[in-house]
Amino acid sequence: MTQSGRIHSRIAGTGSYLPEKVLTNADLEKIVETSDEWIQSRTGIKERHIAAKGQTSSDLGYEAAIRALEAAGVAAADLDMILVGTTTPDLVFPSTACLIQILLGAEGCAAMDVNAACSGFLFALSVADKFIRTGDAKTILVIGTETLTRIVDWTERTTCVLFGDGAGAVVLKADAETGILSTHLHADGSKKDLLTCPVGVSAGFDNSKPNAGLGIQMKGSDVFKYAVKALDGVVDETLRANGLDKHDLDWLIPHQANLRIIEATAKRLEMSMDQVVVTVDKHGNTSSASVPLALDAAVRSGKVKRGQLLLLEAFGGGFTWGSALLRY
Ligand code: UT7
Repeated sequence: MTQSGRIHSRIAGTGSYLPEKVLTNADLEKIVETSDEWIQSRTGIKERHIAAKGQTSSDLGYEAAIRALEAAGVAAADLDMILVGTTTPDLVFPSTACLIQILLGAEGCAAMDVNAACSGFLFALSVADKFIRTGDAKTILVIGTETLTRIVDWTERTTCVLFGDGAGAVVLKADAETGILSTHLHADGSKKDLLTCPVGVSAGFDNSKPNAGLGIQMKGSDVFKYAVKALDGVVDETLRANGLDKHDLDWLIPHQANLRIIEATAKRLEMSMDQVVVTVDKHGNTSSASVPLALDAAVRSGKVKRGQLLLLEAFGGGFTWGSALLRY
């Protein structure tokens, strides 16, 4: 607690994991009518990782989790809660969080998934922050993990070149020092048809199509325009809520969907691209794993240092979008 009696949640450690197999743009040229030039110039993506057969979101999330726990110096037995942002759970239930809990040997603590598509990690981080601020939890593991390539239609060039698999995690601990300053979450379900995987348990699977009709559908340029506006709005809102100026920021850690969207947000914030963590070239869009993957890459490479001011943001299907401002 601080002198004012306030509890903060602070990132004590980060971790991430990418599956071994790499799929390059040249590999995709053999699958659909596309080109490395088109993919790089429109998205910034050069390659992405693909989970091995049988390797699930909980497997990736577990690998990221053990790295984050090790970095934080926290034992799995000390966790009060496990929150997992994912839109590609292993099963309908038990939740991916419960499956990771078993792998960690952390039985007994609370565990649940948060589905907010690509914003899932930030939504989960926000929930975790609230539990810690109220004093109901002291140590929470927050994971973003996805095997998105399992719900990609590999005959559809407008989407299959965009996505990849991976996981990122953070351990949040109650702290007397400032950590997360604020989080801001939004959704607009009326735009549901612009970015969707429109099959599922209650609505039914489409058995007339291979893989039960699973396949991400996106009206790319409509999503692009909405995403840029929504992200502009939420970064302004975040700075305003904290009485800060955009020039106070040290790092932007954005959702990695498209380099052009990332550049638009950086421009809005008058940040040089040297202050922006970019991993989309190597990871593609890993949905809820993208922000914690980028954060971990920045921490482990020594870019992000303790005491610096970080702005995290994400946008995804739903639509959902959100941000977190934190002093690392
Ligand atoms: O993470 C969740 C949020 N998601 C996003 O934020 C993604 C937002 N959207 C985007 O990133 C971009 O809209 C895309 C990368 C998906 C597409 O880029 P775009 O500049 O908006 O292209 P477009 O959809 O307007 O397509 C332009 C052209 C079309 O051809 P015509 O109609 O102009 O002849 C497409 O058929 O590019 C064609 N095209 C392709 N060509 C080669 C679409 N996909 C491909 C492809 N290879 N893979």
